[in-house]
Amino acid sequence: MNFETIIKNGTIVTATDTFAAEIGITGETIAAIGRGLPVDGARIIDAAGCMVMPGGIDVHTHLDMPFGGTFSADDFESGHIAAAYGGTTAHVDFSIQFKGQSLHTAIETWHKKAAGKAVIDYGFHCIVTDLSGNQLNEIPELVKQGVTSIKLFLAYPGVFMVDDATIFRTMQQAAKCGALIMVHAENGPAIDILVKQAVAAGQLSPKFHALTRPPELEGEATARALTLGEIAGTAVYIVHVTCQQAKDAVRAARQRGARAHGETCIQYLYLDITSFDAPGFEGAKYVFTPPLRPKWHQAELWDALVKDDLQVVSTDHCPFNFKGQKDLGKDDFTKIPNGGPAIEDRLTLLYTGGVHGGRFSANRFVDLVSTKPAKIFGMYPRKGTLAPGSDADIVIWDPNEERTISARTHHMRVDYSMFEGIRTKGAAKTVLCRGKTLIENSKFVGRAGMGKFIARAPYSNI
Ligand code: URP
Ligand code: ZN
Ligand code: ZN
Repeated sequence: MNFETIIKNGTIVTATDTFAAEIGITGETIAAIGRGLPVDGARIIDAAGCMVMPGGIDVHTHLDMPFGGTFSADDFESGHIAAAYGGTTAHVDFSIQFKGQSLHTAIETWHKKAAGKAVIDYGFHCIVTDLSGNQLNEIPELVKQGVTSIKLFLAYPGVFMVDDATIFRTMQQAAKCGALIMVHAENGPAIDILVKQAVAAGQLSPKFHALTRPPELEGEATARALTLGEIAGTAVYIVHVTCQQAKDAVRAARQRGARAHGETCIQYLYLDITSFDAPGFEGAKYVFTPPLRPKWHQAELWDALVKDDLQVVSTDHCPFNFKGQKDLGKDDFTKIPNGGPAIEDRLTLLYTGGVHGGRFSANRFVDLVSTKPAKIFGMYPRKGTLAPGSDADIVIWDPNEERTISARTHHMRVDYSMFEGIRTKGAAKTVLCRGKTLIENSKFVGRAGMGKFIARAPYSNI
């Protein structure tokens, strides 16, 4: 057998195994894993001293997304380049159905955003905001096209929020055709009242974004969404879990035997509500939803990752520049575009805190950033593992490389870092997506247009 590329001298790390072997790549896929693979003119990548792992998969991103009168600052090219630098080779972005639109229009709009720009592979979830037309009947069609997950919001009244009846009907339809329901779980109407009261009292600084969205209202909405899902007979995935209350609701549903999953995002593992004590308007850098919590919630989230109460770590990457975007809310926190930049930093931060922090193994790290996302979202085993026949999405990971995160050196198209000054240990050195090199010795060598749409399979119980 002839290989185009052989990765030698590394330690293969999957979600289940750690072993020394070579990987032979032909075309876009892994052709063989073994020892003493015949070189026969193949390009050799030397992974000595490094882990060789499946590419990271970020299942929660918002590239080029309209929000709060502006657009998230990374598009499918800049966001993908930053992702690749961080070891992420695939992501699933949210296409939005605006009120009155068909779901088809939403997906087509997002296909156009990615066309010609994509560097890594990408899929779409569909945010459903309105069922007043034929949208319910479109869901099976979306599933056939490989858009197999629907997101519903219990928050943002008047923008994205849907009522419980809409949620329940969508869940029943999803159950019939194997779509996975994702939920942004916060009690929007109650939060709206707290926000109006804060504004009326002149409490307008960024910190009130957090203080008007208490964790109890995330816990309540999470439990409600999971209960509705159980009755509708659908699998439910709770996005961006930030707190003990919501984590406990996911855990309880899983213990009841429900098909329930939860993710947290890397910022909730590293940052807490004291970020809002930054001087002046700096706190706006940390305005995203749900908000940062008191520090003790972090230990609950790390523990949930250890115990599999939460199964995925993603980013909710939704960057807005501090100057020119976040400052739309300079005098009123309700006008600050919600979201933060993280697509580049997920793997290095999770490896630093999780593996070097002694909380879990490198295998569990791979599981959380790649394998579970692939399994839950219908991409496995094409993606999310290293096996013959799988896409050659491969990261050569130096477990000991130390860096300091900074907006001065990151590749996200945004003027600040949420993680400025944090020291990390573990970094992507070389990154391949379907056999093509995107990052070589920490330098980008890919090009726009290389990334492909991933048609995903329906949810299957994992
Ligand atoms: O603040 C956030 N998270 N912005 C993106 C939209 C969402 O709620 O996921
Ligand atoms: Zn959300
Ligand atoms: Zn989001």
